Amino acid sequence: MHRLDSQTLSEDQKLLDATASVAESLFERHLAKTKEWFPHELVPWSRGRDFEPGQEWDPEEYALPDAVRSALYLNLLTEDNLPYYFHAISWLFGEDTVWGAWNRRWTAEEHRHSIVIRDWMTVTRAVDPVVLERARMAQVGTGYAPEGKLSNTCEGVVYVTLQELATRISHRNTGRLLDGPGQEVMAKVATDENFHFLFYRDLATAMIEVDPSRMVMAFETQVKSFQMPGAGILEFARHASATAAAGIYDFNIHYEQILAPVILRHWRLESLTGLTPEAEQSRDRTIAHMKRIERVSKRVADRRDRQMAASSH
Ligand SMILES: [Fe+2]
Ligand SMILES: [Fe+2]
Repeated sequence: MHRLDSQTLSEDQKLLDATASVAESLFERHLAKTKEWFPHELVPWSRGRDFEPGQEWDPEEYALPDAVRSALYLNLLTEDNLPYYFHAISWLFGEDTVWGAWNRRWTAEEHRHSIVIRDWMTVTRAVDPVVLERARMAQVGTGYAPEGKLSNTCEGVVYVTLQELATRISHRNTGRLLDGPGQEVMAKVATDENFHFLFYRDLATAMIEVDPSRMVMAFETQVKSFQMPGAGILEFARHASATAAAGIYDFNIHYEQILAPVILRHWRLESLTGLTPEAEQSRDRTIAHMKRIERVSKRVADRRDRQMAASSH
């Protein structure tokens, strides 16, 4: 983990102090809107049976397209990496007052995601449990952490906003390709991710009011460097491209459903005022970069639609 210089730390602290009351009301809104739910009630336990030690996993027991297995594998391992996300958020926001309270509540909710997805996957035998456990050990044992790429609180808030929305989309799209209980599990998790997304998105809006220039510069680094948090997972590239080919999460979704609606339409990057000259230049670069992403993402969508049409004939 890198250290932040004292100027960054004091600017971050000013921003956190100036937005603490907004964070408190967003946290209250979160607590009022989220409803208690129980992982054990969503898992079809009657479909399960004991695993004999050493017994080979048989994919035929639960027929699923490989791309859906890839998505489940990535989604669950991402949730498993929770200790490092907790660490990153605690590093970005600190552990006191509302910031620590939010992080602890958020952590408890996130942990429920890996519980319910793993229980469902173990019972249904959707993914080889040995491969999954080895990948979990590799992932958590390596300590892949997003904060290595973040250099201040503004970047952190932008990153987690985009990341929560990305996980909402990825979980929901995976669920749509599953049968009843699996669909319900993924939809429930996606609903939680949406509440997390709303907390961070609206917190970022408040931060833009306090310090538009640093937030605009954070957009640039996050638009240019954003990676799904699963990037440290074993065989990430292979599973991510399978997931993309199935339309669960790809570059087109990334632009059309994440970058454009959040950065351009909700945070209104193009019409923000009160920027320093440095931030103005950063905004121009980000807008130009997003236009390039839009073009590439349209090509990706065309190719995906052609391939999906061809394979359904
Ligand atoms: Fe989650
Ligand atoms: Fe989340």
